[in-house]
Amino acid sequence: VNHLLGIKYLNKKDISLIFETADHFKEVINRSIKKVPTLRDITIANIFFENSTRTKLSFELAEKRLSADVVNFSAGQSSVKKGETLIDTVNNILSMKVDMVVMRHPNPGAGIFLSKHVKAAIVNAGDGAHEHPTQALLDSYSIREKLGDVGDKNVVIVGDILHSRVALSNIFALKLQGANVKVCGPRTLIPKHIESLGVEVETNLKKALEWCDVANMLRVQNERMDISYFPSTREYTQQFGVNKQLLNSLDKQIVIMHPGPINRGVEITSDVADSDQSIILHQVENGVAVRMAVLYLLASKIK
Ligand code: CP
Repeated sequence: VNHLLGIKYLNKKDISLIFETADHFKEVINRSIKKVPTLRDITIANIFFENSTRTKLSFELAEKRLSADVVNFSAGQSSVKKGETLIDTVNNILSMKVDMVVMRHPNPGAGIFLSKHVKAAIVNAGDGAHEHPTQALLDSYSIREKLGDVGDKNVVIVGDILHSRVALSNIFALKLQGANVKVCGPRTLIPKHIESLGVEVETNLKKALEWCDVANMLRVQNERMDISYFPSTREYTQQFGVNKQLLNSLDKQIVIMHPGPINRGVEITSDVADSDQSIILHQVENGVAVRMAVLYLLASKIK
């Protein structure tokens, strides 16, 4: 069985194929053909052990537009609360003849673990601070749509790199495509050996923005911290928040991205998030076509 567990397991050709397939689905959606019969025989379970707005709705829409049968499972309202294990939960769902599982889970490696214990294609929709592969794919797809080939672009990922699955998956995806990648944030929120992934660290936001073509702004993930890593939100915003004044002080127009959810006024001001430089809602729009492509390509190996 084939899975999408992380960008770490893909190569450059896989990414190109996903993007070409997504181009096709985006064209279909833009022609107002909202539904194609491609996955008519496939049943997909979306199982979410962590909150989500974009990823959950985007996968569900992608599945419905491909005509798959869809069941949704939220751990909070399930028998997980009575002590049922992950493997038992998923095997019970699979016994109802489910072919694919899209899973978000707070534990890093949960999807990898599951793929070794159940007979279904697993799609990782975010596993703790580890990977969020479809987010990285839609991010690169959105850069490609806005600026052309990702290969020669300078991309800075700003914020809480330490706790971010979006950062790790983006680093893998961008490096595979030959982009130049820097991370920028407080030292306490940057993993110690991040340079081993081929990225540079820049702790001065203005310098990072002067260098880049694209800045991907991340949220500080307080929910993944036992202690406060940074003195105060105000100090974080002063040093690592992007605002219109800062962007206007650069001698070029850079592209602003954010995976969401945004903390307006913390890592990004509203006049930047809602500006022409921001492609935040294009990222969300592209998420549906990219997820359609991922599901289609995985399902073609099941049939
Ligand atoms: N970008 C992202 O994963 O958003 P959600 O947590 O709302 O799915």
